[in-house]
Amino acid sequence: MEKSILFTSCTLGKLSMPGRLVRSATELFCAEPDGHVPAVETEEYRRLGKQPLGLIVTAHTCVSPEGRANPWQNAVWDDEFLPDAVRIADASQAEGVPAVMQLGHGGAKAEGHNGGLPVLTPDNMTESDIAALVRSFGAAALRAKRAGFSGIMLHGAHLYLLSRFFYPRFNHRTDRYGGSALNRFRVIREAAEEVKKTCGDAFPLLLKINGDDEAGTEEYHRDLVDALRSVSGCFDAVEISGWNSAPGGVPERPFFIDNIRRLRNEVELPLIEVGGFRSLAGMFEALEAGASAVSMSRPLLCEPDFPTKLRMSDDAVSRCRGCGFCYRPYPERGRLCCLRAEDPS
Ligand SMILES: Cc1cc2nc3c(=O)[nH]c(=O)nc-3n(C[C@H](O)[C@H](O)[C@H](O)COP(=O)(O)O)c2cc1C
Ligand code: SF4
Repeated sequence: MEKSILFTSCTLGKLSMPGRLVRSATELFCAEPDGHVPAVETEEYRRLGKQPLGLIVTAHTCVSPEGRANPWQNAVWDDEFLPDAVRIADASQAEGVPAVMQLGHGGAKAEGHNGGLPVLTPDNMTESDIAALVRSFGAAALRAKRAGFSGIMLHGAHLYLLSRFFYPRFNHRTDRYGGSALNRFRVIREAAEEVKKTCGDAFPLLLKINGDDEAGTEEYHRDLVDALRSVSGCFDAVEISGWNSAPGGVPERPFFIDNIRRLRNEVELPLIEVGGFRSLAGMFEALEAGASAVSMSRPLLCEPDFPTKLRMSDDAVSRCRGCGFCYRPYPERGRLCCLRAEDPS
């Protein structure tokens, strides 16, 4: 496979991208206590925007106050956050790389971080809570659109609220939001439809979702295939992550390559594979398996210019050692990655 495929324009659904390397959604854990975005984060997006990337996905940004997943998470639940969104959209897209804002609700992960507001889970929500949640995704998406983003991504992965709806072990509902795969996926479909209502059909819409469950069951795979088939044409691309989304250490190969290979044969939507890409070899393997693009998080935290290194050298290998330092709050660690002495602009 020629390396140039990573750096040549392509289209995923309605989203035009200058290449197939994606910066995966990555929280920097540095927002102000009120959810506003500090300069250190905007400057990181500016650095990423200068790289030969095809797409930048922002950190998951909270759509509703009770869903704040940690005290350092960015917010977009009110128009007061529009200027923050504008700064990130402008900084990331200044050199022509499109950026989409990832929208999420922490659900149970917001416990202890949402100022004592009710903690939402699939089992304790009324239908009117679900309707309000769906509306909050639509309103947040419209803010992202007004801020100048090229689209949005629904965070349906990693056991946040949308993700929990899809797992039977977290969703015991007996109404139309529980039971069958399509029922458990309904809240994601409704959020997507609401985004289309507020932002229009032409506004690109992506989804991130886990490609497996804890035990890697066939049942989960079949449910996911059914769910994704039900939204062909609704999402422009789906990023496939997994139950164990970011294992520590140095990966030998991309984490979810086998899932991509299977899904590719069964669903039509363009698939983005995320997780464990540290050199060109894994990226080629994923593209050959049927991924339309490949997505990285920690390699870009570690070396924001890693895409340039990949373009310049066939032998570039990420320095990320999977230590987990980047999961700590920024105010405590003081830099984005343990290997970065500082965060220069
Ligand atoms: C510090 C950190 C923050 C992350 N924040 C998000 C996030 O906001 N939304 C999301 O979908 N995934 C998030 N992830 C997961 C990554 O997008 C990615 O799925 C995972 O790290 C595997 O990719 P990697 O091996 O390239 O790091 C985060 C990962 C890290 C390390
Ligand atoms: S802090 Fe550790 S895990 Fe995070 S990007 Fe840096 S080396 Fe990788």
